[in-house]
Amino acid sequence: MASNILVFSLLLATIGCVFAQQFQFIHLSDVHYSSIINTVDYNSSTSCVPPSLFSTLEESDHHHTDLKAVLQEKGTLTTSGLYGRYGCDTNALLFQSLMTEMVSNQPNPDFILYTGDSVGHQLPISPWTESQVTFAKTIAASYPDTQFIPSIGNNDVFPDYNSQCSDNNLAFLAETWGQWIPQDQRANFTTRGSFATSPVEGLVVISLNTILYAPKNPNKFANPLDPCDQFAWLEQQLIEAQENNNAVYIIGHIFPGLDPFYLETTWTPLYVTTFLNILATYPDVVKAGFYGHIHRDEFRSIQTNSAPAPNYYYFPMFIGSSVTPVYVNNPSYKVYQYNAGMNITTFSSYFTDVYVSNLNGNATWSLQYEFSQEYLLTPQETDAGLNGATLNTLVNKLKESDTLYSLYDSHRTSNYLPDSITNLCLAQSITSDQFNNCINSNLIAN
Ligand SMILES: *[C@@H]1O[C@H](CO)[C@@H](O)[C@H](O)[C@H]1NC(C)=O
Ligand SMILES: *[C@@H]1O[C@H](CO)[C@@H](O)[C@H](O)[C@H]1NC(C)=O
Ligand SMILES: *[C@@H]1O[C@H](CO)[C@@H](O)[C@H](O)[C@H]1NC(C)=O
Ligand SMILES: *[C@@H]1O[C@H](CO)[C@@H](O)[C@H](O)[C@H]1NC(C)=O
Repeated sequence: MASNILVFSLLLATIGCVFAQQFQFIHLSDVHYSSIINTVDYNSSTSCVPPSLFSTLEESDHHHTDLKAVLQEKGTLTTSGLYGRYGCDTNALLFQSLMTEMVSNQPNPDFILYTGDSVGHQLPISPWTESQVTFAKTIAASYPDTQFIPSIGNNDVFPDYNSQCSDNNLAFLAETWGQWIPQDQRANFTTRGSFATSPVEGLVVISLNTILYAPKNPNKFANPLDPCDQFAWLEQQLIEAQENNNAVYIIGHIFPGLDPFYLETTWTPLYVTTFLNILATYPDVVKAGFYGHIHRDEFRSIQTNSAPAPNYYYFPMFIGSSVTPVYVNNPSYKVYQYNAGMNITTFSSYFTDVYVSNLNGNATWSLQYEFSQEYLLTPQETDAGLNGATLNTLVNKLKESDTLYSLYDSHRTSNYLPDSITNLCLAQSITSDQFNNCINSNLIAN
């Protein structure tokens, strides 16, 4: 009897431990795992994948092609290795290293927000499918008891950006991501690719299929004003959340705004207007948006209404960064802290340097920075939560301070070799061997 009670209380203690709210969650984005990346046999003078597959690949995003120019400027820093290389998507070892690191750093987050693009660019259908399945299995094996909340990226549909209401892609994702989509939302997910879920008391996370709004989406929609009626559904979710006194986080792959590479609109302008009008109607309900897509660690504070000052409402959007180093950045993920009011108080970004990991033959992940501390936010600002007004004030502060801005700039790529190191090494080197030695000693010293 006594031992039964002991077993029972141990069980309770274990359950208590598993479900105790940590007030922390992970934001992961743009893993771009690719089962065919081989950066050991294929290096910067070839391609990321076996040459026999290269010619079959198609892609409508050209960022990484343009970024090759950046890579070439930086000499042989593209050297391949076990953990991949800048300019290539995530290989199996880097993905595994990420999962080991996340589980060891955050074994029991309250939930994980995942803002899409699970698999590599330019994949033919068979490795695309294989990579999607491996991605889902790997996440599920690493976090069997954590609510993982995915949203659809342009590379999560095939071909790239081709998302249409009730298409086969949505059926495929409903199955592959099935364990993460609440049972009662499955039917709706299959028609438009969005769902809502409540990972903790008081919070609803709304996952939107933003690929419907991308100018690169080649489809025509039966309802061109509201593709797959997603906006109507969103508004209905916000009304319900308001009635139930729930706060809302919105997640999606592509944020509304401008991409930093071409300054092109990321959503068709009509849809941006509709979305901002909806947000402006529920400013106290929606706490923040979380997005990915650009493989950069950035944020936005977008004014959503035209109310006279000081009654502007700014929608805070936290973006990326990415795990894939394909756009010439280091892999990273973020751990957010929030309070009982579901206000975001800060986040920490963790990263690994691909170049150093390859040199060492081992990936070491470390804290890159903690947001509120790094940008010198006041206790009042942090206590009120990182809302749109706070972020907007911060943007103005970054405009005034070169020191603060340079932090933001190097965090954008998760400390990808700052230009300053490149330029200073150039000043001391006459051969590329000297240059590389200089870079190596500076990176490792950091
Ligand atoms: C790249 O790969 C080719 C073919 O395997 C090899 O000859 C070359 O030495 C490699 N270059 C570097 C920088 O590793
Ligand atoms: C599915 O979407 C429709 C609107 O298209 C909505 O009325 C219904 O409540 C949704 N179902 C669930 C379970 O959210
Ligand atoms: C969260 O933020 C809202 C709006 O800024 C504020 O009214 C509320 O007091 C905050 N709650 C907590 C617990 O910080
Ligand atoms: C890689 O790093 C980890 C953690 O720093 C360490 O435990 C492990 O022994 C290292 N492995 C190798 C092969 O150096």
